[in-house]
Amino acid sequence: MHSETVNILAIESSCDETSAAVVQNGKVLSNTIATQKVHERYGGVVPELASRAHMQHIVPVVDVALRDAGVAKSDITAVAFTQAPGLIGSLLVGACFAKAFAQALNVPLIAVHHMQAHVLAHFIDDKPEFPFLCLTVSGGHTQIVLCRDHLDMEVLGETIDDAAGEAFDKVAKMLGLPYPGGPLIDKYAAEGDPLRFKFPMSEMKDYEFSFSGIKTSVLYFLQAQRKADPDFAGKNMKDICASVQHTIINMLMSKLKKASKDLGIKHIGIAGGVSANSGLRKAIQDTGEQLGWKVYIPKFEYCTDNAAMIGITGYYKFLKGDFADMTVSPTARATWH
Ligand code: KG4
Ligand code: ZN
Repeated sequence: MHSETVNILAIESSCDETSAAVVQNGKVLSNTIATQKVHERYGGVVPELASRAHMQHIVPVVDVALRDAGVAKSDITAVAFTQAPGLIGSLLVGACFAKAFAQALNVPLIAVHHMQAHVLAHFIDDKPEFPFLCLTVSGGHTQIVLCRDHLDMEVLGETIDDAAGEAFDKVAKMLGLPYPGGPLIDKYAAEGDPLRFKFPMSEMKDYEFSFSGIKTSVLYFLQAQRKADPDFAGKNMKDICASVQHTIINMLMSKLKKASKDLGIKHIGIAGGVSANSGLRKAIQDTGEQLGWKVYIPKFEYCTDNAAMIGITGYYKFLKGDFADMTVSPTARATWH
């Protein structure tokens, strides 16, 4: 092994995936993800159960990531972990593991912001040109981010209430679908009529979003329809999913178009779990073609939570010498830095 080789072991444990990756000189060698099935029956992530599942998964997941990468523990240069934001119990498991591992190997520790990592997932394969705009849409966040450099980002606007992913998941729950409902809505929507049912689009200022309105309007709509036909949702699943997805995508795209126009930036990316949505991927491609954008869409496995994006971010922080000390602790909410 050359001494200039930088091997980052990355840990992601902010929500319900336990993930570890090895990133060598900015290239992803392995990315192991253990998804926690335990939450399915509860219709959402149960924080206590998530923390316990992380405890059970973390050692085997790291072991597999190291083996897949063919990198020995003794060749790890630094350990990166998700410091914020997320479920505090879940974050603590990853943080404690990362600290212990770094301490044992006597290598530096790197604290990573989960939302910044979602944006930098673009640098796993593509290398977007700066400045670019990133619509980051996940289960907990919906943001338009101006990216000036790898570690120089500014949130231009975000949701004032629910995140886009939350809207997908809550609507899915109302339709009787298991958690996480986003991918299922996507699947049904592909065969449905997006114009069959109309749901209101919230009008927000600047680059702000709001998704609590659509959630409530779907709730009232289903309540009214179910009075006449208790199996209304079952019979109209595809069209309901297509119509809801269409409305959410329109809200996202209208703000993204506004930001691109206002700032004169035509390099545009999407990131986060909801960027796995096929309707949104198509919408950004189509809009990009119409408006002359250069569009960046991460591979599916790098849209939802994964440690590869933590490792990439860790690598850029490593190059800057941006290390955390052993007193670092995770935080559930975190302002952008
Ligand atoms: O980024 P992520 O894995 O975790 C957070 O940081 O929150 O995002 C998870 C969210 C969930 O709300 C999930 O339903 C949504 O992403 N999601 C989707 C799709 N795949 C995942 N939403 C719509 N369509 C999909 N294909
Ligand atoms: Zn995420």
